[in-house]
Amino acid sequence: MSRRKSIKLGALIHGVGGNAAAWRHPDVPADASVSFPFYKEQALTAEAGKFDLVFIADGLYINEKSIPHFLNRFEPLTILSALAGVTSKIGLVGTLSSSYSEPFTVARQFASLDHISGGRAGWNIVTSPLEGSARNYGKIEHPSHGERYQIAEEHLEVVRGLWDSWEDDAFVRNKETGVFFRPEKMHRLNHRGRYFSVEGPLNIARSRQGQPVVFQAGSSESGIKLAAASADAVFTGHDDIEEAKKFYKEVKSRAVAAGRSADDIIILPGIGPIIGRTQEEADRKFEELAGLVSIELALQVLGRFFDHHDFSRYPLDEPFPELGDIGSNSFRSSTDRIKRTAREQNLTLRQVALQAASPKTPFVGTPEKIADLIQKWHEEEAADGFIVSSPFPTSLRDFVEQVVPILQERGLFRTEYDSDTLRGHLELRIPENRYASRPVEQHS
Ligand SMILES: Cc1cc2nc3c(=O)[nH]c(=O)nc-3n(C[C@H](O)[C@H](O)[C@H](O)COP(=O)(O)O)c2cc1C
Repeated sequence: MSRRKSIKLGALIHGVGGNAAAWRHPDVPADASVSFPFYKEQALTAEAGKFDLVFIADGLYINEKSIPHFLNRFEPLTILSALAGVTSKIGLVGTLSSSYSEPFTVARQFASLDHISGGRAGWNIVTSPLEGSARNYGKIEHPSHGERYQIAEEHLEVVRGLWDSWEDDAFVRNKETGVFFRPEKMHRLNHRGRYFSVEGPLNIARSRQGQPVVFQAGSSESGIKLAAASADAVFTGHDDIEEAKKFYKEVKSRAVAAGRSADDIIILPGIGPIIGRTQEEADRKFEELAGLVSIELALQVLGRFFDHHDFSRYPLDEPFPELGDIGSNSFRSSTDRIKRTAREQNLTLRQVALQAASPKTPFVGTPEKIADLIQKWHEEEAADGFIVSSPFPTSLRDFVEQVVPILQERGLFRTEYDSDTLRGHLELRIPENRYASRPVEQHS
């Protein structure tokens, strides 16, 4: 088991929901994706539940087949900055693509959020799976899966370098002497690489937590390599405990091979618990939601993972079609898993589409069952914690009121915050400024 004191919990806030039909449910405010009061209420609920963080996912391309939440939603850094002002403890993590952004801007934005929030910022670096993103950024071509990860590696290296532009004692701000800063404590990165050329320094200092926490959310071979080398946390998508254990072990051992400690990286699978007083009630809630998803809608949801591939052209009740390479330049780890599961379990296209649109996971049941599963996944090293998404907006409240107290009684989860930075909550060390221990003459 991890040496950490507490299981880690993040709340994925996603407006009208990750389920394509959730917006039709009577409990869902239909404008939730662009409602600040809704996001505020969700963030405060998560903070009342002593969650480590809230998490905002994102994407850069939509079309008529995208799920409702994707069509009309907040940009992550903007909503997180607003949430920083109404919360005081909870971490604030947002997605931003390394394929379609400049490291200087990204470093500035997250450093700013880190200061605004008093050291609670986190960046989820993603590589953007959808080809249409290129057309929104004036690019001729969407880079290949492999190249997107090469860009991500260099991008992250530059951002981290920029975040260290100022040593922690650089700004003296002495009104008597007129000295605002010490020039020898300011550092230019002078980065010249294959994809980026950045002189620096960054025009903002480090925060109380040193640097924002870096999340990574791709699970392919290239994704694991990036995470193991440099991420602080991984958001992953495993429903099956055995698969999750394998992934956990792989990422941790690769981190160790890269010269880090296994505890330097946190693995957080996403779960969408549906909670009922009895198993029957939870199953009924699941069916109620799944029943809103038509097969046409399910085919579109499935198609998006494969860069909006048109699945309506295949027979529904025959074995899942042979797709060759389709999907491998998009959400590769997800499409590989979908293809593999379909083959191993001999599923039809209809079954695969319905499962993709409304995944029936083990996390449907009573609060005790959900708490037992969380404990088991944690104890058996399948997870250091979880990113909890809400199939209904009320799910987060149900989780906070009914599951969190059980985890607390078992001593698995904090009853009070004992820190007020995201690194503090996640029990991650504050990275030392790379220039701090160097002799002065080596300073650039
Ligand atoms: C759990 C999970 C969450 C993800 N969240 C996002 C996201 O918010 N925005 C995004 O553009 N891509 C997201 N991705 C996509 C990845 O960044 C990546 O582009 C895609 O999964 C392909 O990489 P992979 O084959 O390494 O998984 C997510 C992927 C996973 C597995």
